[in-house]
Amino acid sequence: MTHAEAATRAAFLRTELHHHNRLYYVEARPVISDKDFDLLLRELQEIEQRFPDLLTPDSPTQRVGGAPLEGFTQIRHTVPMMSLDNTYSEEELTAFFARVQKGLARETIDCVIEPKVDGVAITIRYENGVLKHGATRGDGQTGDDVTNNLKTIKRLPLRLPETGPQTFEVRGEVFMPKAGFAKLNKEREEAGEPLFANPRNSTAGTLKLLDPKIVAKRPLDIVFYGLADAGGMDLQSQTDVHALLEAAGLRKADLIWRADSAEGLLAAIRELDEQRKSLPYETDGAVIKVNSFTDQRELGVTSKAPRWAIAYKYQPEQAETKLLAIDIQVGRTGALTPVARLEPVFISGSTVSNATLHNYEEIERKDIRVGDIVVIEKAGEIIPAVVSVKKERRNGGESAVIAPTHCPVCGTAVHRDEEQVVIRCPNPHCPEVVKRRIEHFVCRGAMDISGLGESVVAQLVDLKLVRDVADLYALNELLLARLERVGTKSIYNYLKAIESSKQQDPWRLVFGLGILHVGAGGARKLLEHFGGIDAIAKASVEELVQCPDIGEIVAVSIHAWFHDPVNLQLLDRLRSAGLNFTQKAVTAASEKLNGTTWVITGTLSEDRETIADLIRSHGGKVSGSVSGKTTYLLAGEEAGSKLDKAKKLGVKVLAEPEFRAMI
Ligand code: IVH
Repeated sequence: MTHAEAATRAAFLRTELHHHNRLYYVEARPVISDKDFDLLLRELQEIEQRFPDLLTPDSPTQRVGGAPLEGFTQIRHTVPMMSLDNTYSEEELTAFFARVQKGLARETIDCVIEPKVDGVAITIRYENGVLKHGATRGDGQTGDDVTNNLKTIKRLPLRLPETGPQTFEVRGEVFMPKAGFAKLNKEREEAGEPLFANPRNSTAGTLKLLDPKIVAKRPLDIVFYGLADAGGMDLQSQTDVHALLEAAGLRKADLIWRADSAEGLLAAIRELDEQRKSLPYETDGAVIKVNSFTDQRELGVTSKAPRWAIAYKYQPEQAETKLLAIDIQVGRTGALTPVARLEPVFISGSTVSNATLHNYEEIERKDIRVGDIVVIEKAGEIIPAVVSVKKERRNGGESAVIAPTHCPVCGTAVHRDEEQVVIRCPNPHCPEVVKRRIEHFVCRGAMDISGLGESVVAQLVDLKLVRDVADLYALNELLLARLERVGTKSIYNYLKAIESSKQQDPWRLVFGLGILHVGAGGARKLLEHFGGIDAIAKASVEELVQCPDIGEIVAVSIHAWFHDPVNLQLLDRLRSAGLNFTQKAVTAASEKLNGTTWVITGTLSEDRETIADLIRSHGGKVSGSVSGKTTYLLAGEEAGSKLDKAKKLGVKVLAEPEFRAMI
């Protein structure tokens, strides 16, 4: 391919990819499969790798571009990012409308009502159809340049359709969809990481990350609601803004009302309240805007907020109930979390009898006492939380909550983290910590030892039959017979499930070990990259970060885990028990490939894992990247950068038939 041919092809591919992205995200009518999309994307990537001068900043390959930043640079907003005044009652909203009527000296005023998306405010500039930069609000005058993080949002066009407006600055809200938030928190829980309290916090936390590669894995999305700079276009109203967003392929609010009287506004906010539950994002209110820009200018702004708009905040559903006790939950990492036990109460569609209190600092700050009447709320309508205390209803019988100085289970003196927020039981043998670890090890996403539920695990630990996960493999009929309410049939099933877990893929074992920050996805990647647990154990931090999806913090955590003598002993015992330490236990077929290292690339007749297993079964090693140590590159169709690298390094390249002939 000549440079000129590559340039033509790259331009074609970019246009195609932008087009398909738009069909998928804006028009919701994709015409090609995800796989075909990826093929086009990969082709473009390969061209850009060969001819780096053809790479443009708006290229669809640049969604996850650039190395992690040291910090964010600041962008000064051309038009300040203001906030809105809030109202909390229909009376206040009616009063707002009356003020507007007075200000404009008119009865009927055309207004627009939009959902108030509960995310993070963002401003984005397009120039000549290309996304130039995006920033957070910051202090309203200057914000963080979060362009690289925003580019990972697939719905956000990097280039605009040529038929629409090309130069302007839009304002919108980045959010995490409810479903994506729930999934992210589940993964964090599995990886032993702290949970996000609500989708807004997780959005804000994600936008603050300096590494766009991590951001790309978080399910961020965006909606737009305003304009900061119309780029010379003649727009007359918020309705025109909606039309412009539409023409530019930028998502606007999914529900929009028009009203021109106070009654009309009230009807709209009530309807929105009914319908907002079905929106994919959290909303905490409605935004009411005077539609006409002439009217907006006439009404003007105060130092903080416009006089032509207001936010009407919905009351999050709250309930009052009695705090019966504070229990301490001991987590897998030893974290002691206070949990409020409540007199059961019905809220937002379900009965709640527990609520999170996050940590002891929060209890102190809110002065929560056992016996108090507390107000609870479904924060982000997901996790119930105690928001405040009805102090006026105290009768003197309440008792203060004291943060534990010792683990309530094993009595070991607790340890506080640097910020003094998380209190941990440092005893690795604490029975509760051990129970949590074993529950995690046997769970479906990990070793999947069916039948070993919470109560059985609790008995196993309490009877000292099991102190760590390796002890599971030393269980026998005699020992299990000591369990209460467990018959011979169950015992047989437990032993069978334990036995067959030895054959589980090793990534399940790595995940099951509960290494901090290593979730199921990370464990899979580790094994794909390293091929076996021993290779992971031997890897340096530098080698670990070479593995896709493994960042510095995770690498340090993995390295530390595999350098703790207690863990190494545990691994030895698991190995002796016969657990599978290498990717798919393959019975050696021959030794024909002994001493060779292979890299696989391109499309082959079978999937890569199968081919890799085949190589391993003949004694070869499989590696993810081409280096001086590579003996052969097995190249299928559409082999890309690896092929180039192999040629450059003089690594011998084999096609599949040649490889098959060798074995
Ligand atoms: S209009 C002058 N419309 O709520 C500010 N804002 O405190 C004009 N928000 O910073 C904002 N949905 O981040 C507007 N449909 C919507 C909105 C919305 C969410 C956020 C925005 C703003 C904050 C107001």
